[in-house]
Amino acid sequence: MSWQSQPLNKRIVAFDKELIHAGNKGLAIDHEEVAVEVDALMATMTLSQKINQLHGLQPASIDGFYYAGGDEELGLAPYKMVDGPRGARAGMATAFPVAIGRAATFDVELERRVGLAMGLEVAAKGGNVILAPTINLLRHPGWGRAQETYSEDPWHMGAMAVAFISGAQNHVLTSPKHFALNNLEITRFDLSANIDVRSLHEVYLPHFKRSIQEAAAASVMSAYNKMNDVYCGEHPILLTDILRDDWGFTGFVESDWFLGTRSTAAAIDAGMDIEMPSTHWYSEENINEALASGELNEEAIHRNARRVVYQNVAWQIADMEVPDERVVECEEHIALAREVAEKSFVLLKNDKILPLEDTPGLKVALVGDLADTVNLGDRGSSFVTSSEVSTPLSGLQAFIKHASLHYFRSDDDLTRLGEFDICIVVAGLTYVEEGEFIPTQQQEVEEGELARGGDRETFALPDHQRFLIDTVAGVAKKTIVLLEGGSAIQVTDWLDKVDALLMLWYPGREGGHAIANVLFGNCSPSGKLPVSFPRSMDQLMPWDVNSLSVDHSLLHGYRLLDHQDQEPAFPFGFGMSYTTFDLDGLQIERTADHFNVTVSVTNTGTVSGVEIVQLYVSCTDSTVFRVPKELKGFGRAELEAGETADLEMNLGDEDLRYYDPEQNGWVLESCSYDLQLGVSSRDLPLSSGWLFDGVEWQPV
Ligand code: BGC
Repeated sequence: MSWQSQPLNKRIVAFDKELIHAGNKGLAIDHEEVAVEVDALMATMTLSQKINQLHGLQPASIDGFYYAGGDEELGLAPYKMVDGPRGARAGMATAFPVAIGRAATFDVELERRVGLAMGLEVAAKGGNVILAPTINLLRHPGWGRAQETYSEDPWHMGAMAVAFISGAQNHVLTSPKHFALNNLEITRFDLSANIDVRSLHEVYLPHFKRSIQEAAAASVMSAYNKMNDVYCGEHPILLTDILRDDWGFTGFVESDWFLGTRSTAAAIDAGMDIEMPSTHWYSEENINEALASGELNEEAIHRNARRVVYQNVAWQIADMEVPDERVVECEEHIALAREVAEKSFVLLKNDKILPLEDTPGLKVALVGDLADTVNLGDRGSSFVTSSEVSTPLSGLQAFIKHASLHYFRSDDDLTRLGEFDICIVVAGLTYVEEGEFIPTQQQEVEEGELARGGDRETFALPDHQRFLIDTVAGVAKKTIVLLEGGSAIQVTDWLDKVDALLMLWYPGREGGHAIANVLFGNCSPSGKLPVSFPRSMDQLMPWDVNSLSVDHSLLHGYRLLDHQDQEPAFPFGFGMSYTTFDLDGLQIERTADHFNVTVSVTNTGTVSGVEIVQLYVSCTDSTVFRVPKELKGFGRAELEAGETADLEMNLGDEDLRYYDPEQNGWVLESCSYDLQLGVSSRDLPLSSGWLFDGVEWQPV
C-alpha cells in the first residue's frame, strides 16, 4: 500500500489539558493585580471587619445556601455556599449520577461537562461556591460516603477531580473536600487517621495537590477527623506546610460543618480560615480574648482574612452574573444526566443474554421494590431533589414498544416468574444502608426522609435483597441483576445463579431511561470499576466501623490485592461491553521529561462501543518498597464496529517518583520501570520495559 492510500486512524488524546481546563476562571486570575487591590482594601479594614471574614453567617442553610464573609461597606458580597457532589442541593436541581458512578465512565471530558452543568445550576440559583468535589480516597469500600467520591486510586481520582473543578469553575468557586483522610463515617468526628509521610504524599494527597495546582481550586474544606492525633481543622502540617508552603495554595480553607472547628488560636494559626456554618470558636469575643492573652496575634487574623477577601476580589463575587434560572434541569442537563448514567453502568457478567431485543412475544418480568423506587443515593449533605426521576420501572415502561413487561413487587407471588423469557431483578442498597451519617437526624427521624446511612459493616447485600435474587434465579429461565449502590458489593454468593449483572451505582434522575437504553442495546455498556470488588471483606485490611484510630499505608484496594496475590471477584478497572476490542501497536517515545505512549485500539465486534485503556507502571528493582503496580493514565476510545483509533497518553516523570521521607521530597529513582497497558488492572497484555540510570532512559 502506498502512503497515500493508507487509512489514517482516528487519533485520540487521552487527557487534553486545553480542553479540560478551558474557561476555568481560577486559572485566569491575574494574581499580581488582585494582590494590589486586596492589600489596598485590607489596609482600610478594622480588626472587627477582618474577624467578620472568618466565620459563616448562620447555623442553618437558607434555601440550601450557607453564607460567609462579605462586607457591604467594602463592596464585598458574601460567599453563598451549597452542596454538593451530585448536583445543587437547593430546591429542585438536576440530580446527576453519584460521583463513583461518574468515575466509572473514566471520561474526563464528560466529568468536565458535569462540572459545568452543576456550576451553572448553582450560579443560576444565586450561589457562588459549590461544596464539591469529595475527593477522599476510597481506602476501604465500606466507607459510608463512598458514593460521593471517585476512586480507590489517586491518579484516577485526580483526573476526575480536576475535570470537575475546571468545569464548575467556569461559573463558581469549588471546594474539594475533606482535607484530609476522611474515609470512615460513623466515628468521623473523633477518629485519628494515622499515616506515615510517604503514604500521605503518595496515596492520600496527590489528588488534592492536582486540584490545587492543576485546576486552581478556589477553596478547600477541612475534615472532621484527626490526622496523627491532631484535628485536621487545626493541623499546621496539612493546612500550612503542605497546602500553602509546598503546593502554593492561595485560596481559603473553610471548616467542615458541625464539629469541624475545635479551637480558636490553634485553628487560626494552623490556617483554617473560615469557621462554618456559623461562629462559635471564631466569635469576636473568643478571638479578642485569644489576642489579649497573647495566644494569637493580629497578623494571623490579617493573614487569614486576607485569604478570604482575596478570592472575593479575584472572583469578583459582587459582580458575578446570575444566569437565567431556566438552565436548572434544562433539556441539555437532563440529556447529560442520561448520557453520564449510560456510560457509568458496568457490565460485570453477561452469559449471552444482553442486549435484549424489543420484539413482539418477548415476555419480560421486572422484579423488586427498588425497580419502582427513587434511589438517587444517600440523604446526607449530597441529597439532591429533581422534579422528575425515571426509575427502572418507568424507564422500561417508556422504552418497550413490542415486548410485554410485567412488574412484580418484592412480596408479590414470584412463583409465576418461570413463565417469562427474561426476569430482571433490581437489587442493592439505599440511603438506609450507606451514606453520610448525621447522628442527630438519625436519632430524631428514624422513619423519615433524612440521613441514616453510615459505614457498611459487611459487603453482603441485606438479607431480603439476597433472598430476592435467590428466589428469582430459582424460578426464572434467565435472570439479569441490576445492582444499585455506591461501592463494592459482595456478589460471590449469588453470581453463579444469574445470567447477567449490571452495576448501576445510583444513576441519577435519568437512570431509568439509561437502563432501558443499555439493556436493549441502544448503547453498549462501557463503565469500568473505580473500586475493586473483593470476593469478601476478608480480602482487605481489617475493618471496624467503630474504630477511633485507623492506620493508613501504601496498601489498599487493588494495591493490597495485588500485593497479597488475591483474586478479587472483579478487579479495579474491569468492565465488559457488547463488542470486543483488540489492543496492539504499542509505541513509546521518550522525550526530555515524559513518555508519549500510543496504542491502537480496534473495535473487532459488530456494534459500536467504548474501550477504556489503562496504563499501569511497575517498578521492578527499586531499593524501596513499591506496590506491585499503580495506575498512571487512562483513555477512552469510542469506536464504531471495525474502527481503529490511535490513543495517545502522556506519562510524565513526576508520576514515576516516590516520596522519600528522609529527603522530604520526591525522588525519581534509577531503576527499571515496566509500562503495562490493558483493559483492567488484571488484564494488561501490552508492556514495555525501561531503565533509568539516573541520567538517561533506555528501553530494555
Ligand atoms: C459534610 C460536608 C458538607 C457540609 C455542608 C458536612 O457535614 O461533611 O461534606 O459539605 O456538611 O452540608
